[in-house]
Amino acid sequence: MISDKAKEQIDAWIKKYPEGRQSSAVMEALKIVQAENANSLSAEAIQAVADYLDMPRIAVQEVATFYENYNHKPAGKHTIRICHNISCMLNGADNLIDYLEQKLGIRTGEVTKDGLINVKKVECLGACVGAPMFQIGDKYYENLTEKKIDEILATLK
Ligand code: FES
Repeated sequence: MISDKAKEQIDAWIKKYPEGRQSSAVMEALKIVQAENANSLSAEAIQAVADYLDMPRIAVQEVATFYENYNHKPAGKHTIRICHNISCMLNGADNLIDYLEQKLGIRTGEVTKDGLINVKKVECLGACVGAPMFQIGDKYYENLTEKKIDEILATLK
């Protein structure tokens, strides 16, 4: 469930914390394991992270279900996390969500037929000054317009 390469990456995060505090790496570990499991965290993946970090499964489950950056059902290769909180909403997020759904032929929460993209509506991502915005992977895209969205989607392979 966790490849040797992923274990190396997780170990690098574990080393950033005091000995015995490997649980502090749980968010990064979940991110790494999700990335190598079709962008989704199954119950088995969560258990594997718990075992690797020597944590109770429920503690890992709590983290994995609290934050929006983890997927718990089949997801696309790329997850677009579009903010629909107040600043983004006031700057047209709802229209952009409609546009994304129309352009991709899916509703939020669904995956494109080719398995490339899924869209999630999320709360404030702390980039209100660049509203409306969304996140793909570790990158923020701000001051979105329909034209910008077209350009960004064209880069997703
Ligand atoms: S309201 Fe959208 S980033 Fe803050």
